[in-house]
Amino acid sequence: MIDWQSGNGYIANSNSNPSRKTISQPCLQYAINLPMDRRSFLHATACTSAALLTSSRSAFAADAAIEITPQPAGPVISPHLYGHFIEHLGGVIYDGVWVGANSKIANINGIRKQFVDDMKNLRAPNLRWPGGCFADGYHWRDGIGAHRPRTYNYWQASMPAGYDHTEPNAFGIHEFMRLCRLTGAEPYLAANMNSGSPGEFHDWVSYCNAPAGTLSLADERAANGDKDPFAVKWWGVGNESWGCGGDMNPADYANLYRRFVTQFPAYEPKPILVAVGPRGHAKDLDLDWTRSFFESMTTGGHRSHVDGLSIHYYTDFRKTEERVATFDARGWFDVLREGARIESVIEQHWAIMSKYDPEHHTRLVVDEWGVWYRVGEEIAPNYLLSQPLTLRDALHTALTLDIFNRHADKIAMANVAQTINCIHSLFLAKGDQYVRTPVYSVFEMYRPHMGAQQAQLRIHCEDLKVPSRTGASATMPAVSGSASIQGKTLTVTLTNPSLDAPLTAKLRLTAGDIVEGKGTILTHANMAAGNTFDHPTEVQPAPLAVSIHGNGSAITLPPRSIISLELRLA
Ligand code: AHR
Repeated sequence: MIDWQSGNGYIANSNSNPSRKTISQPCLQYAINLPMDRRSFLHATACTSAALLTSSRSAFAADAAIEITPQPAGPVISPHLYGHFIEHLGGVIYDGVWVGANSKIANINGIRKQFVDDMKNLRAPNLRWPGGCFADGYHWRDGIGAHRPRTYNYWQASMPAGYDHTEPNAFGIHEFMRLCRLTGAEPYLAANMNSGSPGEFHDWVSYCNAPAGTLSLADERAANGDKDPFAVKWWGVGNESWGCGGDMNPADYANLYRRFVTQFPAYEPKPILVAVGPRGHAKDLDLDWTRSFFESMTTGGHRSHVDGLSIHYYTDFRKTEERVATFDARGWFDVLREGARIESVIEQHWAIMSKYDPEHHTRLVVDEWGVWYRVGEEIAPNYLLSQPLTLRDALHTALTLDIFNRHADKIAMANVAQTINCIHSLFLAKGDQYVRTPVYSVFEMYRPHMGAQQAQLRIHCEDLKVPSRTGASATMPAVSGSASIQGKTLTVTLTNPSLDAPLTAKLRLTAGDIVEGKGTILTHANMAAGNTFDHPTEVQPAPLAVSIHGNGSAITLPPRSIISLELRLA
């Protein structure tokens, strides 16, 4: 039996660790006709200060009616949905994570201390490493022992002229495992299926997991400083094999997958094997990859099993004019709407998987997700794919995490790409400069969902009509969210994407009363605000007063805001 949920606690004592009438998901965005035209209502409340976070105007009809059914609770929201990813790419590992033991920057045996502290604070459940594209060219032996070779890094080809990306291999499996222990994150390793072989992969598994005193590989691990096995459970079998990981078609990949897993060394813990899945952000959602992969795996009497199917979904604005921090209302909504498309990607691939695997032995692993803008706004030229993050990206994060929560029955793990100095980062670091981005704050606000059970949330609300770059009329939900229950604590997270209109919401429990409530809000007057090295606290969460009455609460979400409520039930 696979233990899908055990995020947090890898090291036991390290860290306790549209317009209207739309009905979309079974427990999600319902819309009804409202008694009052929303625009005129909004006009009526325009004098409501954005700082007045709890509406006292209960006489007014609300924009949204939110109905929550705490019991019976739904599936557990695995902590692993709040997972991470770091790769040997630009400034992610070297400088971002690894500063070296002799650095003046505060470090723990070479690992940036502030990064460790912040990951602990988030109760980071897992960490995917060493890639990404890098993984399919990485030989694990280069990163152990005293003498480490300098080797080629896949990302060299993307470096600006005059910059080098030679891999020093100073950060290898032992350093990665130390980082996992320090933060409490479970390791998730990716096999090299491209320049590597099944044998090299199996040796890595043995090196990591064979008990001390058994194999020579275990002795070698002990001689390199780690007598105890690393107990790695999550194994990615390749990465993006349709692209940088080998440019394969799904049937060829399935053949190779089987060769890589059939003689997987049988050490504890029982592995969770994650196969390469689709490029979810492709125009056609890459549905054929999933279909053909499972077709190949399930015909011909093959015996290899697949525990997880990776999906990569980038909100991909690389080939557009969209900039990170200079944008208008169209750009704001285009990014949020494109990000929310991940829900349909999850549902459509899941539907295909249902055909081949009706009992759903295989779950989805969204091991790369985030907004990816065009190049040109890096924090330094050699910090490839680094980009500042703004309030827009924070709302994108909230919408995504709410979608993950709502599909907790389908997703075993998700990993933001990437945690530091790359794409959708929670942190930016350059030398002694370090900043938490607004994305970090969303992870922090959503933390109570981790390990809680999904609670049914119904939102009755008109959709928002929004501008779009193409000029076509577009809509998106005026409020999105998710809810979870853990013991007597109900956590509700909600997002108002409107740029100019506050949204009042009446929350109502279908059973039981609320005895106490507190909340947190993330917003800013400027939609493009972000935290920089010079202004690290520009976008910060703030406490939100919550007034409760019996089984309900009336809340006002200012425009451009995310709120998180923790409600204690009677
Ligand atoms: O996250 C950056 C890159 O995006 C990864 O290396 C690759 O897997 C994906 O294309």
